Amino acid sequence: MKKALALIALILALMMVLSLASCGGEPTETKGPENPNTSAPETQKPDDGPTDGEVANKDKPLVWFNRQPSNSSTGELDMTAMNFNKDTYYVGFDAVQGAELQGEMILEYIKAHIDEIDRNGDGVIGYVLAIGDIGHNDSVARTRGVRKALDTAVEENGAIKSDAVGVNADGTATAVKDGTLEINGKTYTVRELASQEMKNSAGATWDAATAGNTIGTWVSTFGDQIDIVASNNDGMGMAMFNAWSKENKVPTFGYDANADAVAAIADGYGGTISQHADVQAYLTLRVLRNALDGVDVDTGIGTADDAGNVLSDDVYKYVEAERSYYALNAAVTAENYQDFLDATKPYGPVSNQLSTDSHPTKSVWLNIYNAADNFLSATYQPLLQNYDDLLNLTVEYIGGDGQTEGNITNRLSNPSQYDAFAINMVKTDNSASYTALLNQ
Ligand code: BGC
Repeated sequence: MKKALALIALILALMMVLSLASCGGEPTETKGPENPNTSAPETQKPDDGPTDGEVANKDKPLVWFNRQPSNSSTGELDMTAMNFNKDTYYVGFDAVQGAELQGEMILEYIKAHIDEIDRNGDGVIGYVLAIGDIGHNDSVARTRGVRKALDTAVEENGAIKSDAVGVNADGTATAVKDGTLEINGKTYTVRELASQEMKNSAGATWDAATAGNTIGTWVSTFGDQIDIVASNNDGMGMAMFNAWSKENKVPTFGYDANADAVAAIADGYGGTISQHADVQAYLTLRVLRNALDGVDVDTGIGTADDAGNVLSDDVYKYVEAERSYYALNAAVTAENYQDFLDATKPYGPVSNQLSTDSHPTKSVWLNIYNAADNFLSATYQPLLQNYDDLLNLTVEYIGGDGQTEGNITNRLSNPSQYDAFAINMVKTDNSASYTALLNQ
């Protein structure tokens, strides 16, 4: 009798559950705190791909990375883009801190090698400089950092000029001046012999091949007047190193700590700067993950998450007024390069796998502005690909041609398919090309 009653009770309970489900009752899945981005019913399995049909594209989490929305002439931040919605952020690195570090690294090298640095013994330390993109704030900062440290900077309206000089054989260029360095009681002149934006004929900037060719032109003009080669990044730096400076034992300095550049330090590459791409790639996806989970944006960043991921404040900073996360930089030289050889390894403190129960799989659309960019394709994207697994994000990677936004935006024809977006613009002024699509 008891058994029969229990069976009837069970059948009744089952019937109630079924009728609730068929009239669209609450989804049974447990979720984090309230978040409009996760309001769509999660009735499917976590790996079913895009879900949030009900969230308007304009309300989905958006992260700008590597190219900070800003005016390419004045550097002024584009706060409209950065405030596109409440889950919009920028992730990059501290451009000024890194640029100053690059300048100081070169200066330290000169001091340590003063007896052999002046190749033709004319008392002038000559350098050439490869500029990435005159309208990109990272590039501008690095040009300024080198000029400041080497005393060749000229100020205008309180800011160091960052224009290219072309050639400056006699020291009369107006964007720079001849600098003076006192080393071991002796005075040396420093001259920026030449600098140029490395843009190819199709318009792609930071172009390594252009730098590799340009060093040949500079060498035929300046020969052994060139004592140092400086570059706004390793892609261009390594192209110049491989084309000329390695064989001629001329110290060459870049930026990014790409694996090939770090390894080349053993062969005489002067040094590079790590912009902590391992931290940036994590932050790029992490801010999206947090918005999709509806948790505080600091989760897994300044505050440990449920898997123990957390960053310490010596590797990043958050500037709330700019809605920007900035990784901090570190110099990579002959002294410490062994620690940086593996450029695509996730950063230890944030390499713990999230569980799919509390962090169900979501889909992200992400673009790289130029598939041929050494740093982004050889360092940043492989890191993103490691973190997307750890954070349960299915990311569609789109590689642009580095020339037009259209080449990229054409491939975002159906934003509704994705839960979140990560954008790397071709030009820092062009945020509206993307936000217009999400606003439709
Ligand atoms: C990197 C460069 C890269 C550029 C692309 C910079 O932060 O240092 O190597 O070419 O970003 O936007």
